[in-house]
Amino acid sequence: MYILGIETSCDESAAAIIKGDKENIIVLSNIISSQINIHSKYGGVIPEVAAREHAINLIPTIDKALKKANISLEKIDALSVTIGPGLISSLLSGIETVRVLSYIYKKNIIPVNHLAGHIYANFINRRRIISFPLLSLIVSGGHTLLVYMKNHYDFKVIGETRDDAAGEAYDKGAKMLGLSYPGGPIIAKLAQKAKDKKSSNIVFPQPMVNSNNLDFSFSGLKTSLLYKIKEEKKLKEKINEYCFKYQEAINNTLVKKTIKAINKYKVKTFLLAGGVSANTDLKERFKNHLNKDISFFYPNIQYTTDNAAMIASAAYFNYYKNKEKSFKDKFKIKADINIKL
Ligand code: KG4
Ligand code: ZN
Repeated sequence: MYILGIETSCDESAAAIIKGDKENIIVLSNIISSQINIHSKYGGVIPEVAAREHAINLIPTIDKALKKANISLEKIDALSVTIGPGLISSLLSGIETVRVLSYIYKKNIIPVNHLAGHIYANFINRRRIISFPLLSLIVSGGHTLLVYMKNHYDFKVIGETRDDAAGEAYDKGAKMLGLSYPGGPIIAKLAQKAKDKKSSNIVFPQPMVNSNNLDFSFSGLKTSLLYKIKEEKKLKEKINEYCFKYQEAINNTLVKKTIKAINKYKVKTFLLAGGVSANTDLKERFKNHLNKDISFFYPNIQYTTDNAAMIASAAYFNYYKNKEKSFKDKFKIKADINIKL
């Protein structure tokens, strides 16, 4: 089954073609037209600018994806698109484009929750090796949640952030430190260069790490960074050390809460997902702290941050799980900025 995936929930116009075959997903093309250079000037995403860029870039991106996969729209079995969560004007660019394509080419549309897409990035090229029940930690710019799955396309949110997302903590922290957007990769890069890690007297709080529930909180950490910077006279000299300690505080919290959830729900598999899963230190921490009988997966690096292959991958499993439901009513699909998993 060939699926065209489209993702425009935030600042990437992305299109991909995948071939779903039994329980395997093969990516034939995965094209991303990034707007990062435009938004980095403002230190964050400007919604109106993002929507305008999608309008300019999406059709050429779809064209490139079809050409790269050497397939025509006539031969595609279904279209899929992110319907939320995300920025409304950005989501509408993708949805309206898919609606028109479905009308012209008479194809079904499989709607996809962006967060399901992040989880299903883990299923690309992994035929039948992921077993249930599983736990996934989604860590992105807008979300931080723990999801329990007994089976395919069966999501139960068991913990989430009460304020900022982990990626947001990276992005806002970077902005305070005078670094560029997105903050995660740059903080990770500078943290690697830190020398006085052990002797450092920079201490960050780890809010809620010992609380009984499975929720997270990152806004206190951000405020703590703000106060520390205000009093720091040698910020330029100590920037790498600040990045190291800040990254350590975010990642430690993520690992501790996830392990608590794994012990409680007794899962076989743990999947790391979302943009922050590109973070090497986070992956290393999980490798070191997870019990050896838990299978640990994270997406291949090109499928960690927003892309359309993950949307088409989720669409494939959604289609097979919910076959009985009709995906034929193209005009019913609607953007939902706050859609839940
Ligand atoms: O999943 P994603 O592409 O977009 C959302 O759905 O939000 O995630 C983007 C987030 C940004 O906050 C970015 O700073 C973070 O992922 N990120 C990283 C790394 N690469 C991207 N955070 C930490 N370390 C990285 N290497
Ligand atoms: Zn995302």
